[in-house]
Amino acid sequence: MSAKTDLVDYYAKRANEYERIYQKPERQKDLASLRKLFQQTFARHSVLEIACGTGYWTQVVAETAKSITATDINDEVLQIARAKNYAGSISFQRVDAFNLSFPKNSFTAGLAAAWWSHLRKAQIRDFLFQFHRLFSPGSIIAFMDNRFVPGSNTPIARTDAEGNTYQLRKLENGDEHEVLKNFPSEKEVREVITDLAGEISWTELQYYWFLTYRLK
Ligand SMILES: C[S@@+](CC[C@H](N)C(=O)[O-])C[C@H]1O[C@@H](n2cnc3c(N)ncnc32)[C@H](O)[C@@H]1O
Repeated sequence: MSAKTDLVDYYAKRANEYERIYQKPERQKDLASLRKLFQQTFARHSVLEIACGTGYWTQVVAETAKSITATDINDEVLQIARAKNYAGSISFQRVDAFNLSFPKNSFTAGLAAAWWSHLRKAQIRDFLFQFHRLFSPGSIIAFMDNRFVPGSNTPIARTDAEGNTYQLRKLENGDEHEVLKNFPSEKEVREVITDLAGEISWTELQYYWFLTYRLK
């Protein structure tokens, strides 16, 4: 049977297994650093989070943010996220990250964790334009994502003509999914945002990168 390629379906089916990636022992030091970075970055902000998944980072950010509207396309992950306890004011909504239609200026900060890596290189600028449209100049935007570490990440199975990389991931039920997962360098990310962003800050940990910038 060939591998399935639908990202939305893959994460719906993975919902109950998803948070195991946050239990990997070798990543605990980085995750502790990220928790601090997330809480500093979003302190007192009204945050729009896209592709929030099971709410792992929502719960972290809720400790310091003024409010969070956390969104994802999959009910399966939102159900898990909604069942958690949060320190602050949180609302969850089922929203497609490619079809964002919140009133402008509803938020002072935007967050997407483990999302950039799932966008095709040719798609990122278009995504950013429509994401940024929701915020006023000076708003904070943050992305967090994985760095490729052999032995900790699933190996790359294929690279397409545009340079996008794909992994073959197996779910508990044995189904195999081909998942787009890019591991961009700092230089590549900076090139994408340079004309759109000020105060760019890039933090490179062993397993993750964390990017923040202010909208021009
Ligand atoms: C790698 S997970 C990240 C979850 C969470 N942000 C985290 O870091 O733990 C990617 C998430 O993107 C969601 N997703 C996939 N396609 C989406 C879309 N078009 N719009 C919104 N969310 C989407 C999936 O349901 C999944 O929860």
